[in-house]
Amino acid sequence: MQLQLLSALFLFGTGIQALPASAAQDQTTSISSSTCTTSSSSSSSTATPTPYDFTAGAVPSYPIHPSCNSTLRRQLERALDETVALAAHARDHILRWGVDSPFVQKYFGVLLASTAAPLGWYSRVVAADKGGMTFRCDDPDRNCETQDGWAGHWRGENATQETVICPLSFSKRRWLDSVCGLGYTVAGSPLNTFWATDLLHRVLHVPRISEGVVEHYAEDYEGVLELAATDPARSAIDSNTLQYFAIDVYAYDIAAPGVGCTGKPEKSEESD
Ligand SMILES: *[C@@H]1O[C@H](CO)[C@@H](O)[C@H](O)[C@H]1NC(C)=O
Ligand SMILES: *[C@@H]1O[C@H](CO)[C@@H](O)[C@H](O)[C@H]1NC(C)=O
Repeated sequence: MQLQLLSALFLFGTGIQALPASAAQDQTTSISSSTCTTSSSSSSSTATPTPYDFTAGAVPSYPIHPSCNSTLRRQLERALDETVALAAHARDHILRWGVDSPFVQKYFGVLLASTAAPLGWYSRVVAADKGGMTFRCDDPDRNCETQDGWAGHWRGENATQETVICPLSFSKRRWLDSVCGLGYTVAGSPLNTFWATDLLHRVLHVPRISEGVVEHYAEDYEGVLELAATDPARSAIDSNTLQYFAIDVYAYDIAAPGVGCTGKPEKSEESD
């Protein structure tokens, strides 16, 4: 959306400043002549230069591989839209409250001097160019088939911009409108309960989004809180921290406004 807005502003700007009146006239004549069935002056319109457009060739939304059939593609499109919505809300919460937010202090540390780093990562999830990356539904590395309980995986050294989504995801992951329902709590339930948190994790593995900087420095909810207290510089580039913050503020601001469903940690094993 921001990219589109920028591009609209950009084109608007060139339209005002760069196009001389004669060029504008050329455009109108070529448009009107092209609507006629017989073109009387085709030679005059061939020399019009194409204005530079920085959005040419941009890939604003997450690509889905042809191996996903129409049924899977529809679910994955919605799931990726929810991932963007989750990251966009995390960004907006930080923009609204900055370091005064108790959630910012909880997840990124009370000593956090600037919110720019987490803001940057959420912004990249929302609006960075997605060219070259893809989500696929076949099983090229045979991990869906051979690894028990895997719902998807980053292809790593085999294809670093690619993510495989296994069949299990399509039956297991929940939609964001169930946040705080069905017994879910942020601290007590698996982080990948939702498509949006699960795919936030997966896109943060892809260098196109994470620039190879976001990594895993904390394992679970308690580890994330400990990291914020001991090494906040790493919280800002920790994949699980970015996911927990996003779902906790989504719960508190949107799913159950002013109440949330942070809950308490439970010892439970997370499946991949
Ligand atoms: C797509 O694949 C899924 C999983 O294999 C299957 O259940 C579904 O029927 C397929 N949809 C179409 C339109 O072929
Ligand atoms: C990469 O491919 C090899 C060979 O197919 C496979 O054994 C390995 O698990 C794959 N790596 C990942 C991260 O899936």
